[in-house]
Amino acid sequence: MTFREGRLKVVGIGGTLWEGSASLGALRRALAAAGEAGAETGFLDLRELDLPMYKPGRSLEEYGPGVGRLVGELRGADAVLISTAAYHGTLASVTKNALDFAQFLSGGEHPYLDGKVVGLISTAGGEQAGANAAGAMVHVVHALRGVVAPLVVSIPKAWQRADGSGNVTDEVYGGRLDALGELVVDLAGGLAARNEETEFAGVAG
Ligand SMILES: Cc1cc2nc3c(=O)[nH]c(=O)nc-3n(C[C@H](O)[C@H](O)[C@H](O)COP(=O)(O)O)c2cc1C
Repeated sequence: MTFREGRLKVVGIGGTLWEGSASLGALRRALAAAGEAGAETGFLDLRELDLPMYKPGRSLEEYGPGVGRLVGELRGADAVLISTAAYHGTLASVTKNALDFAQFLSGGEHPYLDGKVVGLISTAGGEQAGANAAGAMVHVVHALRGVVAPLVVSIPKAWQRADGSGNVTDEVYGGRLDALGELVVDLAGGLAARNEETEFAGVAG
C-alpha cells in the first residue's frame, strides 16, 4: 500500500495483441478517470509487454523485462483495472496468461492481489461472451484474493462502440468506464484508511 506515503496507485492491465484493441481503449478510459480522481496510474498494454507464456518453475529473472515490469507494477498497486477481450466465450488467453504471473506474488504478508481492489472490464463482438469473460475474471480475482469492485463494465458489440484506435465512442459505456475508474480509487482509499486505523489500534493496544 502506498497510501501513507502519498497518492494511491492504480495499475491498468489489458488489451489484446491487435493494434486497434477496444479492450485496451476501454482500459485507457477507465484509467484516465482513476487519474482524474487523484490516483497515480500505471498502464500495462499487453501487446507492448509481449509476455511469454507462464512456465512453472522458471524464475522471474529468467523472463524478459516485460514480466519484471508486470510483476513489479502489480506488487506496488493499491488497485488494479483489468480489461480483457472475450475470445471463444470467455476471457482471452493473453489476459489469463498475464494474470498467471501473479504466481510471483505468492509470498509475503499480502500474497497475490490480497488487499487490492480490482475493477473488471470486458469487450466482445456479440452480446453474451463479454459477461462470461467478466464472470470468469471474478473467479480469477477471488482466487488471487483480490477485492472485486461492485461495478463491472462489459461492452457488447464493441465494434459499434469503439473507433479504429480502440477508443470508446459510445458515451453510455464511456460513462460507466469513468465511474469504474473513480470507484476503484474510492474503494482503495477506504481500504487503505481502514488498514491505517487497524494498525493504530494495534499500536495503542
Ligand atoms: C479469436 C477471437 C475469438 C472471439 N470470440 C468471440 C466470442 O466468443 N464471442 C464474442 O462475442 N466475440 C468474440 N470475439 C470478438 C471480440 O471479443 C471483440 O472483437 C473484442 O472487442 C476484441 O477486443 P480487442 O479489440 O481488444 O481485441 C472474438 C475475437 C477473436 C479475435
